[in-house]
Amino acid sequence: MSTTFPAQVQLTDAELKLLQTLVYQECGMHFDERRTHFLRDRLQRRLKACQIDSFYAYYRLLTSREGKKELTALLENLTVNETSFFRIRPQLELFQKVILEEILKRKQERRDWSLRIWSAGCSTGQEPYTLAILVCDALAYYYLRNPLPFDMPTPKPLIPPPWKLEILASDISYSALLAAQQAIYTEPQMEPVDYTCRLRYFEKVGDKYTIKPMLKSLVQFDFHNLKAEFLPQNNDIIFCRNVMIYFDEAEQKRLIEKFYRCLNPGGCLFVGHAESLFGLTTKFHMIHENNATVYQRMEGAQ
Ligand SMILES: C[S@@+](CC[C@H](N)C(=O)[O-])C[C@H]1O[C@@H](n2cnc3c(N)ncnc32)[C@H](O)[C@@H]1O
Repeated sequence: MSTTFPAQVQLTDAELKLLQTLVYQECGMHFDERRTHFLRDRLQRRLKACQIDSFYAYYRLLTSREGKKELTALLENLTVNETSFFRIRPQLELFQKVILEEILKRKQERRDWSLRIWSAGCSTGQEPYTLAILVCDALAYYYLRNPLPFDMPTPKPLIPPPWKLEILASDISYSALLAAQQAIYTEPQMEPVDYTCRLRYFEKVGDKYTIKPMLKSLVQFDFHNLKAEFLPQNNDIIFCRNVMIYFDEAEQKRLIEKFYRCLNPGGCLFVGHAESLFGLTTKFHMIHENNATVYQRMEGAQ
């Protein structure tokens, strides 16, 4: 191995293909012609960081036992972690005012007090924390209209008993998960969060904000690669927004099939604005209201 490294190492078409295939097999991300420049750029950066002078040698490292850590680092560098609080508001309104209301009613009738939501591809946490806020507000409003037959303990819990809320938030990027767990957000990141919401659910730390512990404790973060066969089960709702957009059609179909199995009967799947289940499955029923879409699991679907 030489000790001086050129600014750019030549990446042949064959090497690019090998690396593209490896990335696809490992995490489902597909880099078509429009995105190969991004892949090339990130590969050059990782090669430099590892001080390796050929892409074939880098490929050999990635596929070796010793290369597991570098493979994680590469995949991490290929993810796009763009996110925000209250992203795609019409969809969140549909979630809170229609879907959640219906699920709460249905569950209450059955005396099932558990609610499980999964934010798959949660990035730096804004999505699962937004969902926690929306559920807490929805439950507070629900009990304003249907008071509990007993006094609420003090201080008032965010989730009125006997309800139990679990929000699982997962990602393939360890650095995004770490940031999500730290939950420190800057003023520009807080821009979509209004004044009352900040007062209720956030605390100031210097010139930044963090999530209050009671809300934070509702969200559990974990590493999950959506390419894996075994994914979190028994969810009432799955949010997987702006993730499938990076997968090709075959991988999208496989993921939707897995989501079907990860949802409870009648459960719902929310995907991003630019994503759709159209032509990919017949196992979900589309609900479109007020400029927002959700897909509900159909029972007895083959
Ligand atoms: C653009 S962000 C979307 C964040 C959030 N869902 C939203 O819509 O605001 C996409 C996230 O998906 C994650 N991701 C990409 N491929 C993944 C995979 N195979 N398994 C799990 N997460 C993945 C990325 O790390 C990234 O944090």
